[in-house]
Amino acid sequence: MNKKESKDLQQHRNSLVPLDERTWQGRREWFFNRDYTDSYEEYYEGPYKRAEVHQKRLLAQLIKSDERIKTLLEFGCGTTRFTRWWKDIGIEATGGDISPFMLSQALYRFDGDLVMADSHYLPFKENTFDALAFITTFEYYKDPIQVLREAGRVARYGIIMGMMNRNTPKLIRRRTQQLFGYNNFYVTAKFYTPSSLKKLIHEAFKDREYEVEWHCTGLPKWFPVQQWSYPVGDFFGLYIQFKEPLGDGEMG
Ligand SMILES: C[S@@+](CC[C@H](N)C(=O)[O-])C[C@H]1O[C@@H](n2cnc3c(N)ncnc32)[C@H](O)[C@@H]1O
Repeated sequence: MNKKESKDLQQHRNSLVPLDERTWQGRREWFFNRDYTDSYEEYYEGPYKRAEVHQKRLLAQLIKSDERIKTLLEFGCGTTRFTRWWKDIGIEATGGDISPFMLSQALYRFDGDLVMADSHYLPFKENTFDALAFITTFEYYKDPIQVLREAGRVARYGIIMGMMNRNTPKLIRRRTQQLFGYNNFYVTAKFYTPSSLKKLIHEAFKDREYEVEWHCTGLPKWFPVQQWSYPVGDFFGLYIQFKEPLGDGEMG
């Protein structure tokens, strides 16, 4: 059996939905369409490889600054490209996603626990994990404040986020693709900057004590630095560090 056949077989055995079902419940987002989900990882192996190295370096730097973090739940984990990496920096990860197609990919790539659910309603008790992670998934959330509050309920100490920056040198290209529907990944996405995200965080966690740290990466290859604290770059990482976990009195 060649490599492709063996991969197909693995996919078939692990698929959460029959392989001939191409879309899910009539939803129009790309992650409910096999044409996009089943080749998603190839993107990382191609044009995205250099970016990924810098993104992981930035996320590691942010989360390792909080020594309390030993376990993490990553929601919107997709095929687990990042979920299977956290252990390389000493963190035990669990993954969750809303898409049965993305999770079918995840099942044969990741050997940890996975759950299928919506980030707006996390199926976990308060303070279950040290941290919550959202990597290039927050852009798709309909009620970002609700998702932040859910994350702050389930995470004891912090929330790490990585996402496409609205202030990107590629803004014009991205906007044009979005406007004309050329790039399916962008059609239902909403983009943030570090400061627009910080406003949402402030609204979500008005009653809690926390600190926020962020940096941008995704700068051109020829640029003298690959990470900085100006709000420009393709991608930014942000860490919300809670001073204390939610107390008994604050739980809903
Ligand atoms: C761009 S992919 C990112 C996947 C992975 N985090 C990565 O960086 O490779 C976005 C993911 O978010 C998931 N997603 C979108 N909306 C969601 C929701 N409401 N709840 C949970 N997952 C969601 C999608 O299914 C998809 O797998």
